[in-house]
Amino acid sequence: MIYFVAIIAGLAGILFGYDEGVIAGALLSLHQEFTISAFAEGVMTSAVPLGALFGALAAGPLAERHGRRTLLLAAATLFVAGAILAGLATGVWMLAACRLLLGFAVGVAGMVAPLYISESAPARSRGMLVSVYQLAITLGILGAYVMNYALEDAWRTMFMLGAVPGIVLFAGMLVLRDTPRWLAGKGRTDEARQALASLRGTSPDAPDIHAEVRAIQEASGQETQSARWSELLSPVVRPAFVVGIGLFFLQQLSGINAVIYYAPTVFREAGFDSSATQLLATMGVGAVNVLMTLVGMALIDRIGRRRLLFLGFAGTALGLGLIAVGAATGSASLDILAIVGLALYIGAFAASLGPLPWVMMSEVFPLRVRGLAMGVTSVSNWGFNFLVVFSFPLLVQGLGLAGVFGIYTVVCLAGLVFTLRYVPETSGLSLEAIEHHLRSGLPFRTLGESPASIVLVTDAPDISPERATALIAGVIRLSPHRQNLEALAADIGRVAYANVQVRCALRELNRRLGGTPPLAMGRQHLGAQAPTLHTFLEHIHFASPGFLQSVGEWPPRGTRG
Ligand code: BGC
Repeated sequence: MIYFVAIIAGLAGILFGYDEGVIAGALLSLHQEFTISAFAEGVMTSAVPLGALFGALAAGPLAERHGRRTLLLAAATLFVAGAILAGLATGVWMLAACRLLLGFAVGVAGMVAPLYISESAPARSRGMLVSVYQLAITLGILGAYVMNYALEDAWRTMFMLGAVPGIVLFAGMLVLRDTPRWLAGKGRTDEARQALASLRGTSPDAPDIHAEVRAIQEASGQETQSARWSELLSPVVRPAFVVGIGLFFLQQLSGINAVIYYAPTVFREAGFDSSATQLLATMGVGAVNVLMTLVGMALIDRIGRRRLLFLGFAGTALGLGLIAVGAATGSASLDILAIVGLALYIGAFAASLGPLPWVMMSEVFPLRVRGLAMGVTSVSNWGFNFLVVFSFPLLVQGLGLAGVFGIYTVVCLAGLVFTLRYVPETSGLSLEAIEHHLRSGLPFRTLGESPASIVLVTDAPDISPERATALIAGVIRLSPHRQNLEALAADIGRVAYANVQVRCALRELNRRLGGTPPLAMGRQHLGAQAPTLHTFLEHIHFASPGFLQSVGEWPPRGTRG
């Protein structure tokens, strides 16, 4: 059943991506059929993010009142209608209106689908499903590009084809029930039990199911009490907003959708003469986007959010800088520079700036305000998206391609500073630990750095004393006190196993290591557990015979001969 839920995530992502991407190729043939000013081009292209902004705004309260399922059915209907009408459009302004409607549907589905998933999925696979959502966005974009290429000038068919994922979404939602959480919150306890049982593959009368529905009801009772808009402004939530909205600001102002929506146009400027080569190159962009998203998914829990962001901002800044230089000189030999820059930019974006804001948005907010806060944050994504897409043709007219990409380069450089100062490392920490740290009043950035701020919660499997010793031996090899501590590894392992906090850190480390033997571990494996483990070894070092001997305190007084 959970795969079915993943498919819903996927469909919403595909809708999102297809409607973003389809305009790219359609613009080429639309220009042949209609006279389109830079302003009209901006309006038509940005109608999707603008509509989505309103869709996302409306979706939160509507989903509370009418349920997630009803809203997804409505969005699917709008989506099909919008796609067909866009295909029948008789002019640019009608097309813009249809895309506004489509955007509204994308905004609703894009907000409700993640909510639907997070309320249905078991906690341990939530993070993975968020990344599946981003992967689906990139597949939707690639699908649109492939259609652009395959259908050449048939822009009407391109738009109409967008109805297909809408129809599948509709059919899928007919089969699925609403989420157990929404049903339970509305007092529809029996239905909630049935929905939960079918998700977990057991009987509605199983004791677990009864207990979980009761827990949901208690939790949702607390939530209605506290889910007030004013709470979003509290000092506890503010640092989470800085991270969530800040990352979306940087993601969008790095110019990603100027590339995604206008890729063939950009390639034309870069000297690709035929529209076939422009579209082929655009498909390359879509493919790199999908493949590098997979790379990002593999790295995100391993090297941590902050490191991946630094790599992403450095890579995108370099790529964008190359495009700007290539465009500024305009010579044919430098066109290749622009192409390399574009590939680098898309690759670095897809592995990092693409998925990370979505993943972190689902991690940083306290449970009580999570739904509301995620709504506001995703609205900001659409707002910034609109700003970039709408302004791009006008900015190119005023500043030239080099100037515009120069601005995006500066934004990515600013992203490095933003990450350094504001973004906490959340990988390997439970959502409870993150919330605990937010409430502690310590700077959000220092999350995971001070062992005192780490809550002893982990869902990583427990380990044996022998495994703890093996892991500690691996950590000792990375410690500056290696020489002094190596001989004591067995004793240190026992102490580590007995200490709840250190053991939790070792459990996380064990999970992250996977098949890597402990003695082959590197610093990158330590992740958010590095401070806990290093501080632990530091304490042991100061009490160890080797250290005490060096300060003349060993053997202890009284035992000296
Ligand atoms: C962004 C979209 C963008 C896409 C590209 C997403 O994370 O929010 O605006 O078009 O990535 O893959």
